[in-house]
Amino acid sequence: MIARSVSSPLTVPGDKSIAHRVLLLAALARGASRIRNVPAALDVRSTRRALGALGVAFRDEGDDLAVDGAGGEFAAPDAPIDCGNSGTTMRLLSGVLATRPIVATLDGDASLRARPMRRIAEPLAAFGARFALSPAGTAPFTLTGNGAARGSGVAVPIASAQVKSALLFAALGAHGTTRVTGMLRTRDHTERLFRAFGIACRDDGGALAVDGPAVPGAFDFTVPGDLSSAAFLLAAAAVVPGASVTVHDVGLNPTRTAFLEVLRRFGAGIEAVVTDDGAEPRGRITARGAVMHGIAIAPAEVPGLIDELPLIGVVGAFAHGTTTVAGAGELRVKESDRIESFAAAARAIGAHVDVAPDGFSVRGPARFRDADVETHGDHRIAMAFAVAGR
Ligand code: S3P
Repeated sequence: MIARSVSSPLTVPGDKSIAHRVLLLAALARGASRIRNVPAALDVRSTRRALGALGVAFRDEGDDLAVDGAGGEFAAPDAPIDCGNSGTTMRLLSGVLATRPIVATLDGDASLRARPMRRIAEPLAAFGARFALSPAGTAPFTLTGNGAARGSGVAVPIASAQVKSALLFAALGAHGTTRVTGMLRTRDHTERLFRAFGIACRDDGGALAVDGPAVPGAFDFTVPGDLSSAAFLLAAAAVVPGASVTVHDVGLNPTRTAFLEVLRRFGAGIEAVVTDDGAEPRGRITARGAVMHGIAIAPAEVPGLIDELPLIGVVGAFAHGTTTVAGAGELRVKESDRIESFAAAARAIGAHVDVAPDGFSVRGPARFRDADVETHGDHRIAMAFAVAGR
């Protein structure tokens, strides 16, 4: 039995991407900060735990997190720092530590140990930081930060907000101006939060310029709901003609909303209303279900949809015609190889999927059948197929 509408106001947990950054900035600030609506997600716990290992003690106060930031003075960790399953923790924290007088070993679970880290180690070397990576270029690795780093010109080599953010965080500890160039068109939470907390992050002729050393001001910040989590609810309504769902208090940062346009292209009715246009815009989104029609996702769209691509594949299985995703080789180095995880799970439930090195195509509508789906411990695969399992 499929519910066609949900009448109680729906909300989703706080945005993971934003929460990681806000925790790091609270640790770098001097004085008391309060963070509201922090998601219980294990990845964000990993950032909290990692900062704890560096002497930054966050306190739970009711539903909030409170911390007295020491202006970025960290204690030497006495054991490897466990980043769990969280690539964002490992990469952004590496940026923070690259320009501090710290030696730290960063490690993670089996999935994180398989993910590429040269993408941060190489550009962060411009600040004089040294990384002893495994021969495969992965964790565990020991990072020797440079407490006397100079500002640098440094390029982001791939469309990755994690890499861009690592460089911006490193700039905070360096002396002089850092100009970050290269592939900058990814989610811009770091840039927005820097500005919101008093750090000039200037648009400088196609580059991002930050003057260091810079200490953020202490703050009180409420994390908006996670649009990438809301996406699953919106998609679940979109694929059922006549269904509708509204999600409230969700982040509507324009670098994250491409999925809403994608649902429209599939044929869904989507209405997004910004109710608070602050540092991170937020508001409500309504999705109305309809008959879906297959669409093509072009390589240029991929950075704006990176976490939603397996879900787009699932919506594609409901759609008439073919849905294709191209230029998405990055999916192969996420928490699992999301091209293979998606394809295997989609085939198990009766979808027709073809795989390419950098994407996939789905011919729909599928004749769905019951199946056990292997998630490979990857939360986005689990959630995407929960939508198929309606
Ligand atoms: C994230 C950026 C993305 C995304 C990840 C979170 C971030 O990774 O997939 O879930 O918070 O910056 P990449 O920037 O490496 O593509």
